[in-house]
Amino acid sequence: MFPFEVSFPTHIYFGVGELNRLGEAARSMGKKALLVTGGNAAKRTGLLDQVQALLQTAGVASVLFDKIEPNPRTSTVDAGAAMAREHGCDFILAVGGGSVMDASKAIAAAARSGRPIYDYMRGNPSGSAKELVPVQEALPLMTVPTVAATGSEANNISVLTHWDTHEKSSINGPALYPKIAILDPSVTYTVPARVTAEACADIFSHLFEAYLISAEGTHVQDGISETLIRLVARHSLTAIEQPDHEEARSTLLWVSTLGISPFANAGRGAGMPLHGVEHPLSGIYDMAHGRGLAILSLPYFEQVILPDRPERLARMGRHCFGVTAEDEREAALATIAAVRTWYERMGITERLADFGVTRDALGKMAEEAVVIGGRGVGYLPSSRKLNAEDIVAIYEACL
Ligand code: NZQ
Ligand code: ZN
Repeated sequence: MFPFEVSFPTHIYFGVGELNRLGEAARSMGKKALLVTGGNAAKRTGLLDQVQALLQTAGVASVLFDKIEPNPRTSTVDAGAAMAREHGCDFILAVGGGSVMDASKAIAAAARSGRPIYDYMRGNPSGSAKELVPVQEALPLMTVPTVAATGSEANNISVLTHWDTHEKSSINGPALYPKIAILDPSVTYTVPARVTAEACADIFSHLFEAYLISAEGTHVQDGISETLIRLVARHSLTAIEQPDHEEARSTLLWVSTLGISPFANAGRGAGMPLHGVEHPLSGIYDMAHGRGLAILSLPYFEQVILPDRPERLARMGRHCFGVTAEDEREAALATIAAVRTWYERMGITERLADFGVTRDALGKMAEEAVVIGGRGVGYLPSSRKLNAEDIVAIYEACL
């Protein structure tokens, strides 16, 4: 295990009904909120009305910015930041999925500094990457996650797309940790089956990516990751069949928060290589992040992990997917088959070609993935680092 330093500073209220704390919690944040949502779901489900009523009762003023799209754009973030400045908002309240929460973090940073958010991102598309500067200042942020997926509610990561260049990459920094997060599983009951499946594939990816290439001796983290993987595989299917299943939705919400936290991944010395490979898919083709990850993961297992670390795949299968084979390679293959079956049961069956991806686009996407995924992502010496050829081969197997 590698040495690590951990910060998990977000104050969390968790449980069905905890949304009712929103007014009181908001009052502790400031006097006027920029209330950030997506364009549709919060309004349609009645959640927006509920939140506005809670703010009003608590005497907290708010201005609505309801323009965040899935795979949020830097231009939308800049518009939100301008609105926060114009109205003198002293904190940001994010009510939505990962896209809304990520955009809200970026709005919080850009509203404080007055700079376009793209200044904080990776650099220009020609690949001359500039040094990323961790965001040190931002308006305070409170989150109410409405999808159990990204863990954005309690981490300091914001993933954005610059639509002119199709660059999708992340910013982070100590100022982006939400101060308060209200995790009320009942607000996720309306998440449709399709989004639930994508969300669960994303949670799984946050767990398996570092687990499979982990340093040795990470016993605590391995136990946590295996428990969380087992739970997401099981409760995803329940939540898809019965969307208001309290136990399944509650489990998934807490799994999603912990899945990308240091509890599962600190000390592994490993990044999330497959995330770097996926980002060009959502950045160029606007694919849902989790669906892209699921499609890519099977050839990634076959081409990268199976030859490199079959024993980790075998272990994941035995602990999380009911694999019983004793031979390591046989168990690793059975794990891949079990994951494929799980995805199919969740309705994830597409190929990349279904989203308009063509063979001639693969080389450029792979180069982009190397720049994004290669920047600062730690791979263990015992696990080979993915190069553009490896990544093209993964994309090709998914066409
Ligand atoms: O757009 P609206 O109207 O809000 O509708 C959304 C959207 O269409 C809908 N939705 C959200 N809550 C709902 C609901 N529908 C019904 N009932 C509800 N309660 O669901 C759709 C997807 O929402 P989105 O926020 O895009 O999904 P998700 O939470 O999966 O977030 C994905 C984004 O997060 C980034 C991804 O790259 C992607 O841009 N990630 C952020 C991470 C982080 N901050 O740590 C890490 C992740 O790896 C990921 O990269
Ligand atoms: Zn993810």
